[in-house]
Amino acid sequence: MRRYHLNALLVFLAVASSLATAQGNPTAPLAATPPMGWNSWNWFAEKVTDKDVRQAADLLVSSGMRDVGYVYVNIDDTWQGSRDKDGNLHSNDKFPDMKALSDYVHSKGLKLGIYSSPGPKTCARFEGSMGHEDQDAQLYAAWDIDYLKYDLCSFHNGVMRESHPGDSPEAMTAQYKMMRQAYQKMHLALLKTGRPIVYSLCQYGFDSVWQWGPDVGANLWRTTGDITPSFDRISLIGREQAGLARYAGPGHWNDPDMLEVGNGKLTLDENRTHMGMWAMLAAPLLAGNNLSQLSPDVNAILTNREIIAIDQDVLGQEANRIFAEGPIEIWARPLADGSTVLAIFNFGEQRSYLRGISLHLQEAGAANGWHARDVWMAKDLGPIVDSTPFTVPRHGSVILHLTK
Ligand code: GAL
Repeated sequence: MRRYHLNALLVFLAVASSLATAQGNPTAPLAATPPMGWNSWNWFAEKVTDKDVRQAADLLVSSGMRDVGYVYVNIDDTWQGSRDKDGNLHSNDKFPDMKALSDYVHSKGLKLGIYSSPGPKTCARFEGSMGHEDQDAQLYAAWDIDYLKYDLCSFHNGVMRESHPGDSPEAMTAQYKMMRQAYQKMHLALLKTGRPIVYSLCQYGFDSVWQWGPDVGANLWRTTGDITPSFDRISLIGREQAGLARYAGPGHWNDPDMLEVGNGKLTLDENRTHMGMWAMLAAPLLAGNNLSQLSPDVNAILTNREIIAIDQDVLGQEANRIFAEGPIEIWARPLADGSTVLAIFNFGEQRSYLRGISLHLQEAGAANGWHARDVWMAKDLGPIVDSTPFTVPRHGSVILHLTK
């Protein structure tokens, strides 16, 4: 009993101190707006090195991305070495001195993120945190880490399913309970460090994570399996977010996975649709591209201030889908200043003239006669009505900022 009180006191003190220092603002919760930054996985995957991360930090600054909000530099899987006899984890040869790397990233006005798993191994079979949660959290704090992505990986097949085999409702209930407890455990370990560390759950949306993510301390949770740089995959993930808006808000966000903007063979329209949709979804904006090959088009998309302002709006109200007919969907989100944003997406294979499709302004929280600004075109269109016609390219989108 006494021990329980001591633990509760420790956690209380940790919460109080982490709130007091969260992002330098005593009243702002951690991840008050969706986290923005860069992550190594989508481009570098298991090859990422200390040098790549330093270069990414340099390029976030020189490209102007840091100054529009991309501040987290997140190292994904494959940085881990082995544990010593006391269980202390060391980074591997690709990351010779994590504290020095962290100091470098911080010296650029950026923050550093890291990656682990609640299981014994990560998805790339590197060392996970199972049984070492407190030790690892303390290590992250000693390295001045600001963000942890915690990926289910071997905890799923190796631990949950072995402890409670089968797919019966009883087995699944027990498996998912273990999963929630494992996520909660690392949350408490992070709190105990007293350092504000954004906590990102990665378990691919299992067990409707949006319903319980905040209860285990998550600042964001992946709602889907992995993204790839293919428009089919990106649009499927985007469309699957319908209905999840009510679970997100300041401090706790749905995460439809990192950006593929600039990767693969995505066209200009596809890159814009991806970025615009993620902004409508109040999604974390974690660029996943090779910043050393940043084309002017891709840079312009990633740093579009009006799009970023939508994503980062302080109301934190994620868009809802208000209309869907075949390949055409309309999504809308209200902003803190009383204006609203309406996005028309064309997921189809042909250009659409939207003949006969109403804009559904009322459902978007607007009305006939409100003024529209076409955000991607950076053009004021004047007053619009439900029947104002728009042409939306194949795999393209029109994003309208509507004001009274
Ligand atoms: C996956 C995860 C990816 C990446 C990868 C690393 O499970 O969804 O985003 O982190 O593991 O092995």
